[in-house]
Amino acid sequence: MGASLNKVGVVGLGTMGAGIAEVLARSGLDVVGIEVGDEALKRGRGHLESSTGRAVKRGKLSAEEQQAILDRIELSTSFGALSDCDLVVEAVPEQLALKRRVFEQLDEVCRADAVLATNTSSLSVTEIAVSTNRPEQIVGVHFFNPAPVMKLVEIIHTVLTRPEALAVVQDLVERLGKVGVTIGDRAGFIANRLLFGYLNQAAAMYDSGHATREDIDAAMKATGLPMGPLTLMDLIGLDVSLEVCEAIYRETRDRRHAPAPILRQFVTAGLLGRKTGRGFYSYDRPAVPTAQAEAGAVEPPPRVGVVGSGPLAVALIRGCLRAGADVRFVAGDTEKAQAVAAALEQPVEGGTELALLAECDLIIEAVAEDTSVKRSLFAAVDDVAKPGAILATTATTVPVIELAAATDRPQDVVGLHLPDPEGELAEIATTVVTATEVARRATEYVTALGKHPVRCRDRAGFIVDALRVPYLGDAVRMLESGYADADAIDAAMRYGCGYPIGPIADLDRIGLGHAVEVLRALYTEHREPAYAPSALLEELFTAGRTFR
Ligand SMILES: NC(=O)c1ccc[n+]([C@@H]2O[C@H](COP(=O)([O-])OP(=O)(O)OC[C@H]3O[C@@H](n4cnc5c(N)ncnc54)[C@H](O)[C@@H]3O)[C@@H](O)[C@H]2O)c1
Repeated sequence: MGASLNKVGVVGLGTMGAGIAEVLARSGLDVVGIEVGDEALKRGRGHLESSTGRAVKRGKLSAEEQQAILDRIELSTSFGALSDCDLVVEAVPEQLALKRRVFEQLDEVCRADAVLATNTSSLSVTEIAVSTNRPEQIVGVHFFNPAPVMKLVEIIHTVLTRPEALAVVQDLVERLGKVGVTIGDRAGFIANRLLFGYLNQAAAMYDSGHATREDIDAAMKATGLPMGPLTLMDLIGLDVSLEVCEAIYRETRDRRHAPAPILRQFVTAGLLGRKTGRGFYSYDRPAVPTAQAEAGAVEPPPRVGVVGSGPLAVALIRGCLRAGADVRFVAGDTEKAQAVAAALEQPVEGGTELALLAECDLIIEAVAEDTSVKRSLFAAVDDVAKPGAILATTATTVPVIELAAATDRPQDVVGLHLPDPEGELAEIATTVVTATEVARRATEYVTALGKHPVRCRDRAGFIVDALRVPYLGDAVRMLESGYADADAIDAAMRYGCGYPIGPIADLDRIGLGHAVEVLRALYTEHREPAYAPSALLEELFTAGRTFR
């Protein structure tokens, strides 16, 4: 049936519609583009000309090819021009009443066998479908911005959609060379449902003063994402972000989807992000320095002591050596100390006596993730460390304050979390008793050790895990609910949001045990049911299995 598709209409030639029209025409289809008036039509033509013009400039398209693409797109302000289209894609603004009006018009002018599709991001396709006389011919076709670049297209069927109508859209998406995932009609579909849960938490995190906007963005960017969450929301538009969160919340009633109050405040104040010059960031003023920029450099690097003998301890020692720091280590027993020494490329002073740490400026604990083990260790380190030394814990789920309270110098204790031990990012968590000067010096030390420090409060998950792991947990819930399979979920985040890895594959990579531990810690702290690890995650973890 896809082969018989010749002419496709696009209603609304804004950001998305113009991009969709371009993609269709590039694949050799005849396109009819509809706008609301002459001015809007002119703007639409402008979008098409400048987008294809950029491709010519970049050498991706010849001038002749550009002309051929533009010639294939007929522009009109009359819905009547859609009468012989096989398929029409609606891309007007995200308002249900407007979309329903457009579909009523389409219903009147389009052939009875024509398929009508909506590019809605968050509205119910079913609600749009039932306002027409052909609900079985209505499909969702959710392109991502910019449509010519982003590979993902979510194809949405309702409980009423005929398989033949769905096949028309599936064949088209394949013909366009896009990655199509077919799913049912749930608010946010796959990509936005998972993305906005995460974005909304980032907004709430900023609102709570947990970390600065720059540090939140820097931390998440360091995990390989194309941009930080607050920058992304400014780009999407805070009004759009608010709408999408509202739509998802209406369906899930999950408090984590209830728009963060700060979003509504920004929107009420007319601060909509990049398009109005101000949102989370001001685009007409210089950026506020990050924790890293504030820190400056300390020379020489601190003398570091590492306690532990696992892979994290070894990675820490290696990192210190690379930065030219004087480093020594303490392991639990002689055998472990020998194993650490053997794992290192150069000789390092080490052993089993904590007294080795007496002269260290920074002592980093990287022993087993067990509160009582860590507490006893902190009490013992407290006895040997010199006055003024900073004691840091790499604990991921034990509150820093628990360990600070085990010493007689709680003001000198910080959390130091490395989401990727080999990577650059280092999260420094301060407690309610950490001295300001200690926090500053810890940031300087970490910078001198070649890491990118970000600062946050002593809360479960710091920045990265608190934002990343619940998103991964949401992906498991989605999988468990039968809404989409692992491949579709991973494809949606990779090809729709530009993530380097899909959430299910990411869980296998970071380890299910780590995800379960973080979720339990977040649940214990917030008592929010949605944070609790889902049954499937717990089950796979207990079975020692992975998702793939
Ligand atoms: N912008 C994004 O990143 C993005 C991504 C995916 C999906 N979407 C969805 O795509 C749709 C369009 O979003 P957009 O960002 O392109 O909006 P937009 O405001 O850039 O474009 C909408 C266009 O529709 C035109 N229009 C309005 N009423 C019309 C009518 N009655 N008939 C014909 N044209 C009409 C407007 O003149 C405008 O040019 C929305 O449903 C949105 O949720 C947007």
